[in-house]
Amino acid sequence: MSIRSKTAELRARMTEALQGGGEKAIEKQKATGKLTARERITSIVDPGSFYEYDLFVEHSGKEFGMDKKYLPGDGVITGTGTVSGHPVCIYAQDFTVAGGSLGYMHAKKITKIMDHALKLKVPIIGINDSGGARIQEGVNALAGYGDIFYLNTAASGVIPQLSIILGPCAGGAVYSPALTDFVFVVDNISKMFITGPEVIKSVLGEDISQEDLGGARVHAEITGNAHFFANTENDCFEQIKQLLSYIPFNNDNKAKSFPSKAPRTKSYKIETFFPTAPKQPYDVRNIIRSVTDDSEFLEVQELFAGNVVVGFARINGDSVGFVANQPLVMAGVLDVDSSDKVARFIRYCDAFNIPLVTMVDLPGYLPGIDQEHAGVIRHGAKILYAYSEATVPKITIILRKAYGGGYIAMCSHHLKADFVFAWPTAEIAVMGPEGAANIIFRNEITSAENPEKMRQEKIAEYKERFANPYVAAAYGYVDAVIKPTETRNYIVQALSISRGKKEVSPQRKHGIPPF
Ligand code: HXC
Repeated sequence: MSIRSKTAELRARMTEALQGGGEKAIEKQKATGKLTARERITSIVDPGSFYEYDLFVEHSGKEFGMDKKYLPGDGVITGTGTVSGHPVCIYAQDFTVAGGSLGYMHAKKITKIMDHALKLKVPIIGINDSGGARIQEGVNALAGYGDIFYLNTAASGVIPQLSIILGPCAGGAVYSPALTDFVFVVDNISKMFITGPEVIKSVLGEDISQEDLGGARVHAEITGNAHFFANTENDCFEQIKQLLSYIPFNNDNKAKSFPSKAPRTKSYKIETFFPTAPKQPYDVRNIIRSVTDDSEFLEVQELFAGNVVVGFARINGDSVGFVANQPLVMAGVLDVDSSDKVARFIRYCDAFNIPLVTMVDLPGYLPGIDQEHAGVIRHGAKILYAYSEATVPKITIILRKAYGGGYIAMCSHHLKADFVFAWPTAEIAVMGPEGAANIIFRNEITSAENPEKMRQEKIAEYKERFANPYVAAAYGYVDAVIKPTETRNYIVQALSISRGKKEVSPQRKHGIPPF
């Protein structure tokens, strides 16, 4: 056979394999507003950069007539490409082929590309669109999932792992995204649940739709399983590219530097957003944007636990992770969900060499029976653990309230912040003036001729004495009390001087965080 005819044979084989589930299945996929698996990949990677591998892998199922079935690519597309010039490994399950169900060889293709990503130390992007374990392949399908989970864990903190949910992701399949760093969901397309509506109906008699049980909004707003929510697949791909611009491509490197840009201070003036009244809410995102390059800020888990804000920005061209209390929502308190959100974000930044800037304004941990019984002790401890353990540069700015455990938890010097700055509006105390005055001056207040007048006097006395940054500054717990307009300069300087920071932790296998 000549090269020409061999090439023609290759072309014919490729055409057959590239047809996926065929025209009808592709039409069905498109009718639900979904792109095909290959379209998804080529929308994420740079044009012309995708190289597909293992196109000719065939499934190994033999039972239930599977030996007579041809499943192109075994329902998953794998390969490499670049995003903004940086290499990535990527896979996308093809729902048009046997519902993207995961059989033994399908799993082998995924673990092979994950292995590549780990060896080459580049990010792995996984696009999930699957009916779960291929039922006909039984335990071999389960084995495939187990192998993926193992590699997800091995890759954790070594290379970025991004999971995109663009269809069903049901049963044990949900645990691969759950083990990865960032989960992206798209409205009306993503569905994630361990047991679907039918099982819930038969076991518990409860009626619920797939969307209400595990749709994109549910995971972005309620469960916190998703980190990015988009209205369309294309919006989601833009979010992925944006995120990749802020994070390094592995844990040996720092994120790419960009030319420094001044904040857009005409739109983001601190004085406009920061209230003079001590209890007035304000949107801390405006304060963050007032100090970041070009006032850009990529928020992570924007719709979940809104009482804290976490996300990426650049200062002087370099990536920084921001953690801030959000006075706009529940006065910025810490509770179970916000503790999880903050702790996880800190650990991500620490694993990938991204310095942390923390902005503090909170009355403390949220009191209440619900919170106590939901385990606020255990969850709240995660923040203490994550900040204490983090060795990246840690810079804290106390904007207003820093009361009680909240003061300690939000990256105080006691958890080894490198620099703690406070605005003159900062109030650093064991608790708010009202609560404190009621307790320590109880006798004076109750025995006074006019208890309310006495109470107000004692509150004022307490405020005068403690509700300021100067007591903490007198002990060196605050390094500098700074004018709000100087904040960016102080952060720039602190980051610049911390550039070579190296901290050696005590030798151990690993710590035992309050998971
Ligand atoms: C084999 C599957 C499949 C599966 C779908 N298909 N899921 N084949 N194993 N798990 C096939 C269908 O038979 C069909 O084949 C094609 O994919 C498209 O599926 P449809 O049902 O027609 O699509 P749709 O109506 O859109 O419904 C999608 C669906 C549904 C909601 C995902 O297919 C479904 O409920 N699938 C089963 C989900 C499930 O229970 N999975 C097992 C979870 S247990 P044809 O040939 O007709 O086109 C699990 C354990 C993992 O995953 C544990 C790991 C630790």
